Amino acid sequence: MNKFKTEVAEGLSQSPKSLPSKYFYDELGDALFVKIMHSSEYYLTRSELEIFTKKSNQIIDSLQVEKDNYFELIELGAGDGLKTKELLKCLQNRGFNFDYFPIDISQNALDKLEISLKEDLPTLGIQKRQGDYFETLASLKKSQYPKVIMFLGSNIGNMTDAVAAQFIYELGANLNTGDKLLLGVDLIKDASIVLPAYNDRQGITRAFNLNLLSRINKELGGEFDIEQFSHQPEYDEKEGIAKSFLVSLKKQKVFVQALDKAFEFQEGEKIATEISRKYNDEIIERLIEQTDFKMVEKLTDEKAFFANYIFTKS
Ligand code: AVI
Repeated sequence: MNKFKTEVAEGLSQSPKSLPSKYFYDELGDALFVKIMHSSEYYLTRSELEIFTKKSNQIIDSLQVEKDNYFELIELGAGDGLKTKELLKCLQNRGFNFDYFPIDISQNALDKLEISLKEDLPTLGIQKRQGDYFETLASLKKSQYPKVIMFLGSNIGNMTDAVAAQFIYELGANLNTGDKLLLGVDLIKDASIVLPAYNDRQGITRAFNLNLLSRINKELGGEFDIEQFSHQPEYDEKEGIAKSFLVSLKKQKVFVQALDKAFEFQEGEKIATEISRKYNDEIIERLIEQTDFKMVEKLTDEKAFFANYIFTKS
């Protein structure tokens, strides 16, 4: 059975129901996410871009890479590479010796990224790799060159704290002493700023969330009536986690052909589709507690909405 099918069957059979957010990203989902990133409410991308635009030189200095020593710049979940390009340009201008290794779950996003990089930075060495973050970790060990791993955009926030801690631990276990991690995370802030970012007025995030049900319809012969579900974001500042749900607008039964099963929904019943964790220093310290990473730098945008942390593996 394919993974999507198994995980949909599991998620919709549980109480409370859930669906994994990694399945947002088919071709339509990728395009919707790019639109979200450009929406006025989604401050995350703008804030991190500000850090990369204004502070790339400072990032490079803190990474302490040697000019004449070749290193690998590896980006997990590269997406459209908007922010990374700022760093890549600075590294090239200053004459560093490196190749760029974008890794993404979406082949479509990787292909587009390669085309735009070839246009903007024609001399850059690129080695793209398609795959799941966890699955690609082991492949890091294949080369012994010094490495800088970038994990930006608060992508880590879509993992639970336990999974994120395990991920950072495994990442560290596949690196050598002196290798670096550049981690971009959204910081805990007021609900009046966070909630609109997950509920934009144009309804792009709504379409992004509902695309999960459209995928089940398309790929598994689901019979979801998309109009009968609403998009519901929630955020509690104390907990610091934005959560997205799909809510059934009526009592209904939905048949999914590939699973040969009907799923019952009560009126108001929620399907949990995504968590987007927000961070502070304490939560970050807890994440790296069991690892060999030491924090060496924290850079924020002017409003301190977003932070890029730099860690070194000891
Ligand atoms: C990819 N990830 C960091 C985004 C986030 O903010 O959690 C995904 C997203 N979901 C809704 N809007 C954006």
